[in-house]
Amino acid sequence: MSSGEWAPLPGMADLFSPESELWHAVEEGAREVFSCYGVREIRTPILERTSVFARALGEGTDVVQKEMFSFEDRGGRLVSLRPEGTAGVIRALLRLGAAAGERVFYMGPMFRAERPQAGRRRQFHQVGVELLGPPSPMADAECVALMAHLFERWGLGGVKIRVFTRGRSADHPSVREGLLRTLEPHEAELCAECQRRRSTHPLRILDCKVAGCRTVVERLPPMTGFMSAESRGYLEEVSRLLERLGVPAETDARLIRGLDYYEHTIWEATHPALGAQDAVAGGGRYRIEIDGGVVEGVGFAVGLERVILALSGGDAERFARRPTVWLVAVGDRAREENLVWAQELRRGGVACGLDLAGRSVKAQMRAADRSRAVWVAVRGDDELAAAACRLKNMATGEETVMPVAEATARLRAGA
Ligand code: HAM
Repeated sequence: MSSGEWAPLPGMADLFSPESELWHAVEEGAREVFSCYGVREIRTPILERTSVFARALGEGTDVVQKEMFSFEDRGGRLVSLRPEGTAGVIRALLRLGAAAGERVFYMGPMFRAERPQAGRRRQFHQVGVELLGPPSPMADAECVALMAHLFERWGLGGVKIRVFTRGRSADHPSVREGLLRTLEPHEAELCAECQRRRSTHPLRILDCKVAGCRTVVERLPPMTGFMSAESRGYLEEVSRLLERLGVPAETDARLIRGLDYYEHTIWEATHPALGAQDAVAGGGRYRIEIDGGVVEGVGFAVGLERVILALSGGDAERFARRPTVWLVAVGDRAREENLVWAQELRRGGVACGLDLAGRSVKAQMRAADRSRAVWVAVRGDDELAAAACRLKNMATGEETVMPVAEATARLRAGA
């Protein structure tokens, strides 16, 4: 049943153990870090009015133009599955009357109708953060540092962070004009898509992967040349603060982001183990206008599938949770007694496994082995009569007979 009608849709996946356990550990780690930064969870609907995304991300962006799953709902409203988290979160915060200083995080599925490939899904998951407030290099640096802290907490080494600036909003027209001017002599060298981008999204030309365009782009001056001193100073200040915070980040004049809401700081984090789709996270400072309201803030989102892949290297088995103890029964009476004991252990917080199918002791020991339980407790009629068990340490093979009450106490105390 791995193909056809019962397979998940292209670019979507089922998730199960051991990967699900690694996901859980990653999400828990993130929650722990967020609590240190006073960042609180917000949950918003997965389905929103299409206009929320079109307004916030920009009508002309690839995400809005080509990548949203949109349809008319039964009430005749045009709705979309969220392609990212920021727009919905800002909509919700505006409605809730939240103000500058609000700090939120979100976790959950996002949907983009992109061509599926390694590291690129149609349903993927993000952990994102939004810190509301007016432009401030300190807030931006804190936000990048928070992202770096997440990677550290997850034990994900080798992440490369690149930072640049989109310039303040007032600079955007001059950046666009400056770029178009410097591109003019090279017009014929650009690919067909970039020819089109000149009138729609000229900045995207900086990100084109076509060799001819790259050659042109490499010769262009950095866009900071078309920005005000204020914008340049802002970037310098963010870089200086990141250095003080011990966050290694490289300034990259070629960095651009695919969403329109950004101003000032933008950044991206990549990981070398990921191949072509190597961005594990992206973010920046933004200014979003929806429904007459304006929200300013800074934030980022991490792609969970990519973090999981980089962490596990495709082998999530070693992250699987293991029971503390596996109860093995010799005979039917012991099986029932083990069921009762397991309940007591589990209610005391001890992860406990057992086999209820009445299999041989050998088969039960094999199951214990497979589960990678730390301990195995064996009971037969003799042990039941003495209210005892044989507790075996699976790592050392050492076995001790002891009262059940003592084994329970030891297992509860971490053995
Ligand atoms: P983004 O760069 O579009 O930014 O996405 C952030 C991360 O989500 C990417 O770096 C990548 O790891 C992951 N991602 C994106 N698309 C896919 C996909 N098709 N399959 C797998 N992973 C994917 C945003 O979404 C902004 N909302 C970030 C932000 C928050 N900016 C300010 N606040």
